[in-house]
Amino acid sequence: MEQDTVDKALDDAFFKHKGIYFETSLTSLEAIDAIEDMEIRESDVFLVTYPKSGTIWTQQILSLIFNEGHRNGTEHIDNINRMPWIEYNLNNMDFNIRPSPRLFTTHLPYYLMPRDLRSKMPKMIYVSRNPKDNLVSFYHFYKIKPDIKCTISWEKFIEIFISGKVLGGSWFDHLRGWYTHKEDFNILFVTYEEMKQDLRSAVKKICKFVDKNLDEKAIDTVVERATFKNMKEDPVANYRFMSNDVLDHSKGESLRKGIVGDWKNHMTVAQSEMFDKVYQEKMGDLPIKFLWDLNEENAS
Ligand code: A3P
Repeated sequence: MEQDTVDKALDDAFFKHKGIYFETSLTSLEAIDAIEDMEIRESDVFLVTYPKSGTIWTQQILSLIFNEGHRNGTEHIDNINRMPWIEYNLNNMDFNIRPSPRLFTTHLPYYLMPRDLRSKMPKMIYVSRNPKDNLVSFYHFYKIKPDIKCTISWEKFIEIFISGKVLGGSWFDHLRGWYTHKEDFNILFVTYEEMKQDLRSAVKKICKFVDKNLDEKAIDTVVERATFKNMKEDPVANYRFMSNDVLDHSKGESLRKGIVGDWKNHMTVAQSEMFDKVYQEKMGDLPIKFLWDLNEENAS
């Protein structure tokens, strides 16, 4: 019964194109196909994530690194305008007239990205998150998406996450695809957990990769303004600026909990063991290691 209701609600909210689910109300098949021909500049910077891996966190970090006016508070431009998603161009921007360096965000798999990335080799940053926490974050996110017109149980959500019937497609395929094609791109891999463990080092690593030589005071500002607590109150970063058609703020927040290990509050031992088995089967051959816990239950 739940199966039918959920499948219908998901079919109403999403369309599937080339193996990936997209939000019907926010993009179109034609827009996705046009991305292949997008004009690329060597100076572009792309943030690539699977949904709920720390996208808006890294948007805030990159925006602060690149924009002095963001760091010193003289400009009040929200992060979606600083770093638009290429597959969800919500403000109908003309990307061609944006000044360099252009910053972009995407959840696309490697094979749907602009063709010229492989020749122009702009800088790309891929942020991943341990999939159990990713799943938990996604489960809560679906509750604040008004176009998903049903309640999905936790058990059912685990099922659809593993099968990849979620926005952005399969977590496993997304990371595997980008990781095994990393030589085709100029890409830096960063994890959510390393940002949580040592944000300052992560910010410095990103600065080095994007060739931005910020002094220590500027680094301090980036770190300070990218903490969970400060981002939650920051109107350019907390995504409360999104309209209620896109995110129902009365049901929850984009900046929900921001910790490593919240999966322990959701998964039963049996669910966790089942997930470990699936993870091992699908990812065991890759040299990727995640941190699954940081003992920070009470962190803010
Ligand atoms: P939780 O739902 O676990 O809290 P995305 O931006 O890709 O949608 O990811 C959202 C997740 O990143 C949410 O996780 C959110 O709280 C977390 N996040 C956003 N900013 C953060 C920050 N500054 N520090 C830690 N986590 C952050």
